[in-house]
Amino acid sequence: MGGMETRFGPLTTLEPRAVAERLEAVRERTLSLIAGLDWETLRRQHIPILSPMVWDLGHIGFFEEDWLVGRLGTLEPIESDFKQMFDATLNPRPTREKLPLPTGRELFEYLGRVRRRTLRIMGSPEAQGEPELVADGFVYEMVAEHEEQHQETILQLLQTLSDPAYVPAQRRQLPPGSPLEPEMIEIPGGPSLMGWSGRGFSYDNEEEQHEVAVPTFLIDRTPVTCGEYLTFVEEGGYDRRDLWSDEGWQWKLETGAEAPGNWSKRDGKWEVKFMEQVVPLPKRKPVVHVCFYEADAYARYAGKRLPTEAEWEKAALWDEAAGIQRAFPWGDEPPSQERANLDQLAFEPADVGAYPLGVSAYGLHQMTGDVWEWTSSFFGAYPGFEAFPYREYSEIFFGSDYRVLRGGSWATRPAVARGTFRNWDYPIRRQIFAGFRCASDA
Ligand code: AVJ
Ligand code: FE
Repeated sequence: MGGMETRFGPLTTLEPRAVAERLEAVRERTLSLIAGLDWETLRRQHIPILSPMVWDLGHIGFFEEDWLVGRLGTLEPIESDFKQMFDATLNPRPTREKLPLPTGRELFEYLGRVRRRTLRIMGSPEAQGEPELVADGFVYEMVAEHEEQHQETILQLLQTLSDPAYVPAQRRQLPPGSPLEPEMIEIPGGPSLMGWSGRGFSYDNEEEQHEVAVPTFLIDRTPVTCGEYLTFVEEGGYDRRDLWSDEGWQWKLETGAEAPGNWSKRDGKWEVKFMEQVVPLPKRKPVVHVCFYEADAYARYAGKRLPTEAEWEKAALWDEAAGIQRAFPWGDEPPSQERANLDQLAFEPADVGAYPLGVSAYGLHQMTGDVWEWTSSFFGAYPGFEAFPYREYSEIFFGSDYRVLRGGSWATRPAVARGTFRNWDYPIRRQIFAGFRCASDA
């Protein structure tokens, strides 16, 4: 668009009522997750690597105000200090508790006022929108998915709480797994498409779609289960230097870790925490709350390796017979409870084999939902990448500090779990709902 004069147009080519309902439904979920928590719990910094929930909520509100009110409506912010206070880049997570955060009353009043302005501007005939921002409702969907991603962050925090633990108001019933032997599936070499297809919303980091030529490789049919991971733990995996990378061994010495983040031992037996429930090791559920280094060490123990991001995406989305990239592993239909464990209300992963209707064209199970899967790839730009609409979403994180995770977890909203979505985190992090599956050369 270089040199071209900016044109302004109507705020969304979607039906405004549908957009308003989407934003409303997202907010309802946010509020339902935290309903019943007292202010002290919401206000506290429980662990340094996650924000006080009050900060997340204020940040969600300011993000909406900044884009949908400030940028589209050119109105000044309601609270002049919120721009600074709720800027993620200016305020590292451990410092957020020290901020002069709003009181409960101020916070919820603010969220309501922002939303009223958003809706007023959306319906106003004088409102102006930069075409790239408003086409197909882009900026509205960006704000919705931003809040949905922060819901998952809030759930990460809720999972760390104990005494008292977080008690979900309801738990979705999960389908049982059907017996499924661990097996590797061969993915034949050859060209496939990677990245956003152009249908619906995407973040800049999913573009441009490009062809990749991945050589033949093998990949696990299911995520690594707690039962499989237990053999690694019991066979001294955490004490065998030869299984760990240098950085991974450093991490293990510093933390003293000897099992995944939600495992604990009682009377010599491992138990696993899912929110307020502490249960005997669920051997058929995917292992979760492992960092990249643990996944990497397990893969070496198994005589395998982690898949690259390109391998993962091909195994998940490529339909070789049709020569097309699917939107989801099972096809182009949106996620449902029969296909994947997404959308937060299960509060734990399902057993492997629970979603026979969700398999990919190559026959892989649970590539979407249950647990994020670590890949061996650093977070980087696809060919032709252009930051849009702000560098701080993706571009400032490109490089060798972060590893990519794919597939979404039980705590991911369906919209965010589209097949090409890319997540990233530091290799030492295990507060995320992350597991993995292994790959190997053919
Ligand atoms: C894509 C999950 C890594 O939480 O840092 C939230 C999402 N970006 N607000 C993060 C995000 C801006 C992001 N992740
Ligand atoms: Fe954010």
